Amino acid sequence: MTMWLVLTVQVIWPGLCLAMQHYPTTWGHYDMCKSQVYTDEGLTWDYMACQPEAADMTKYLKVTLDPPNITCGDPPETYCALENPYMCNNECDAATEELAHPPELMFDFEGRNPTTFWQSTSWRKYPKPLTVNITLSWNKTIELTDDIVITFESGRPEQMVLEKSLDYGRTWQPYQFYATDCLDAFTMEPKTVHDLSQFTLLDIICTEEYSRGYVWKYDKTVRFEIKDRFALFAGPRLHNMASLYGQLDTTKNLRDFFTITDLRISLLRPATGATMVDESNLSRYFYAISDIKVHGRCKCNLHANSCVFEKEKLSCECEHNTTGPDCGRCKRNYQGRAWSAGSYLPIPKGTANICVPNNIGPVNCECFGHSNRCSYIELLNTVICVSCKHNTRGQHCQLCKLGFYRNASAEPDDENVCIDCNCDPFGSESDRCNGTGFCKCKAGATGVKCHECQPGYLWDNGCKSRVCDNELLRCQNGGVCVNNVRCQCPPAFSGLLCEKPRCESEGGCSSDSGSDPGLTQSPLLLLLTSACTLLLTRL
Ligand SMILES: *[C@@H]1O[C@H](CO)[C@@H](O)[C@H](O)[C@H]1NC(C)=O
Ligand SMILES: *[C@@H]1O[C@H](CO)[C@@H](O)[C@H](O)[C@H]1NC(C)=O
Ligand SMILES: *[C@@H]1O[C@H](CO)[C@@H](O)[C@H](O)[C@H]1NC(C)=O
Ligand SMILES: *[C@@H]1O[C@H](CO)[C@@H](O)[C@H](O)[C@H]1NC(C)=O
Ligand SMILES: *[C@@H]1O[C@H](CO)[C@@H](O)[C@H](O)[C@H]1NC(C)=O
Ligand SMILES: *[C@@H]1O[C@H](CO)[C@@H](O)[C@H](O)[C@H]1NC(C)=O
Ligand SMILES: *[C@@H]1O[C@H](CO)[C@@H](O)[C@H](O)[C@H]1NC(C)=O
Repeated sequence: MTMWLVLTVQVIWPGLCLAMQHYPTTWGHYDMCKSQVYTDEGLTWDYMACQPEAADMTKYLKVTLDPPNITCGDPPETYCALENPYMCNNECDAATEELAHPPELMFDFEGRNPTTFWQSTSWRKYPKPLTVNITLSWNKTIELTDDIVITFESGRPEQMVLEKSLDYGRTWQPYQFYATDCLDAFTMEPKTVHDLSQFTLLDIICTEEYSRGYVWKYDKTVRFEIKDRFALFAGPRLHNMASLYGQLDTTKNLRDFFTITDLRISLLRPATGATMVDESNLSRYFYAISDIKVHGRCKCNLHANSCVFEKEKLSCECEHNTTGPDCGRCKRNYQGRAWSAGSYLPIPKGTANICVPNNIGPVNCECFGHSNRCSYIELLNTVICVSCKHNTRGQHCQLCKLGFYRNASAEPDDENVCIDCNCDPFGSESDRCNGTGFCKCKAGATGVKCHECQPGYLWDNGCKSRVCDNELLRCQNGGVCVNNVRCQCPPAFSGLLCEKPRCESEGGCSSDSGSDPGLTQSPLLLLLTSACTLLLTRL
């Protein structure tokens, strides 16, 4: 188990310490989140926004390469120095420790001589692109506090994209594009971080700053500039962190911008050091990375001041009676009010947003946040929640009121856990529905909410069966179909489709009743019409 606790002031944001020394009393209000600092009076406690210390995050990540077999050395190969095609005596052999270049070497201790690095296979399949995705996963939300720095031993790639995920790798957004020619590679105008302002800080840019050729032999790094972005709010030497904190407190997009669960370095084209690729010496072209720096802290929603690494997993040591990997919920029995993140700013501007106990009588009152009152039932020796809100009911407000159903993917304390059945009052038997929101329909009605009609039925405050139309169920003898539910017959005819001469129903027809005997009296047609009616109403 590794654990880091705030024992000294934050090194990377020195401005903050300064601010605290000037206004010690305003920083005294954070409950539980204090850190030991050395001041003129010696070692004392200092109170601050409740967050873990920033640390080197590369110790806690999992690295994945795609394609998986892109690392050099299997089979062994020799490669040439990029600067000198005649120097082709470097060897990569995965089976020999001294000659292997596995991905772990991107994260090992630097400063050794010779440098250790990960290396890809060379560009043997030119002109097919040589692309590699390097994915760094933390399985924990972290907040970046310093620049991401990638050191290439191979010459910096001519095209690459740095991407980030905020949802454990399900979706990805670009962070920054890098190319020797941004327009050509990504049809983007080349920019640098210095072109950004407070208003365009979240813009994703393509930069040509980190792709110059290998001739700058000591220019090996590619950066994603976090501090320059902070400086847009906090000033060039980050002396006004309160201003940045104020922004972070109120602007979710800004907080999210610096927050990640995964990073992906998408290498799209290796350094070639020249305009033309030398096809006779393809073993000059490959990627090699000696170091990746990712500095950040666990995101704990300002409810923890330490983060532990246990069982290969980072998690916040939540305070303020919060819980969850990011302290994103109130603990059971501390749901007296809705959870909120703490704030960066001290009281009275900010608040720690501590979770408060459920408002209870003598015994455990658990209402999933839908009520804060319980009543003791002596007869049953139990407490029940009273006045469950949000359309819930039950001893613990754990059920939905009649006429509502439960959203199976919502947490039990979600305000919207119960969803209105919304059954159509005309089409449904009742206002209740089953567990997935299906209402019970009256004859002829259909659909989840019973607001549609089956074929052969028509909506008229509920589903009424269709009597006539202008196609198969024509009203006969000049009758007019009214709203598909009845035929308005001429005086001499009656019947559902005006198919009967009145004299027939009243008895005593003369053989020549006048209108169109050939059609109306054809027994075949009558049979057909009624068969159709039957068929259509049964459907
Ligand atoms: C790298 O990731 C991108 C984005 O998901 C994908 O399109 C591409 O195929 C991947 N490249 C490799 C070499 O796996
Ligand atoms: C890596 O694996 C893929 C698919 O299995 C294969 O096509 C490719 O040749 C392999 N590459 C190397 C360098 O071994
Ligand atoms: C990520 O962490 C969760 C616990 O928070 C665990 O259940 C899951 O297996 C982890 N995933 C990986 C890929 O390690
Ligand atoms: C690289 O090119 C040089 C000159 O064209 C040639 O002498 C040398 O053998 C090549 N090296 C390899 C590994 O092909
Ligand atoms: C959290 O709850 C415990 C009791 O379980 C209590 O002792 C403690 O003071 C609470 N912490 C805060 C910060 O309110
Ligand atoms: C159910 O809850 C999930 C998670 O809160 C939410 O994404 C989804 O939209 C909800 N479904 C409905 C039908 O409201
Ligand atoms: C609700 O009814 C629909 C339609 O009859 C059915 O498909 C579904 O499985 C039912 N859901 C439950 C939870 O019973």
